[in-house]
Amino acid sequence: MQPLRRPEPRPHERRRSEPVSAAGPRVALRPGASGPALPRRTALQIPVIAHRGASEDVPEHTLAAYEAALLQGADGLECDVRLTADMQLVCVHDRRVNRTSNGRGVVSTLELAQLRQLDFGSWKQPASESESEYAEYPDLRREGAHRVLTLERLLELVVDHPRPVQMAIETKHPTRYAGLVEEHLVALLDRFGLAHPRLGETSPVRVMSFSAMSVRRIRRLAPSLETVLLLDRVPLRLRDGSLPRGVRIAGPGIHILRTHPEYVERLHSMGNRVHVWTVDQATDIDLCVELGVDAIISNRPKAVLARLGRDGTAHPAAARPGAAGLNAESPESFRFP
Ligand code: G3P
Ligand code: CA
Repeated sequence: MQPLRRPEPRPHERRRSEPVSAAGPRVALRPGASGPALPRRTALQIPVIAHRGASEDVPEHTLAAYEAALLQGADGLECDVRLTADMQLVCVHDRRVNRTSNGRGVVSTLELAQLRQLDFGSWKQPASESESEYAEYPDLRREGAHRVLTLERLLELVVDHPRPVQMAIETKHPTRYAGLVEEHLVALLDRFGLAHPRLGETSPVRVMSFSAMSVRRIRRLAPSLETVLLLDRVPLRLRDGSLPRGVRIAGPGIHILRTHPEYVERLHSMGNRVHVWTVDQATDIDLCVELGVDAIISNRPKAVLARLGRDGTAHPAAARPGAAGLNAESPESFRFP
């Protein structure tokens, strides 16, 4: 990352002092910009996306974890997808099933029927049964809610839900099936009418990847679908806030914003949005609010919603541009690390 400089005035601050001609403001895009600079969101405007479901409370990537996230009020669901040996898209993070199930083996070498034999729930015990989501929603324990989750079943959950739900689907690479992942993904989304939104419409689904190649494939197969380039570190060529052609959303890890908070402003000034993962700590949530990011991806959607003032205990200051969702122990303001 280039050396830190004091961030330039934010777009809305800059606009206030600039003369506006009778013909209206001129929109001069910065070289490489995807569009006009974006304003920062307030705390109440930041969508909260449940990372692998409500995965702090309930075993990740299970139907129970996603149902819990929706019950908690998450605006969207994040999932990782992999292809099985018989070309079914399943929601599993690791290459192997060893960590999150009672089985062993590589997802891409197992058929869906084999994965269905496994228990994806028993590896994780809730910290306290009486305080767990299971105590509040006993139905989460029902038969089948902790078996392998196909993307098809997750999409059914989303489209059947009574309120709009965003989906952030991450393709995992490298995999032996390479481009087949994107082909099967777009074909499945198409079956749900989610792959090709018409002009002026937006699919609730966006596809994310750390692999720029995967993102390019999605853009080729489904040009009107939104894509997110995930970033574990920011390559030199993107440090000015630009993104590869056609990509309008960056997905930096929160560790990047802790050390380089000005990166959000750079992305916004280029007309790009910022979806941050994995934001679980109060100080990180506050940082995201102060920076005005465009989505928070968290294992703890309930805690994030509360911190943003969306659990019914909203402090009026939470709606102020740039303000953190405040509660008794949150500082009125904070400094960048
Ligand atoms: O939402 C993006 C984030 O999930 C990327 O990291 O390893 O949790 O898939 P990972
Ligand atoms: Ca992921």
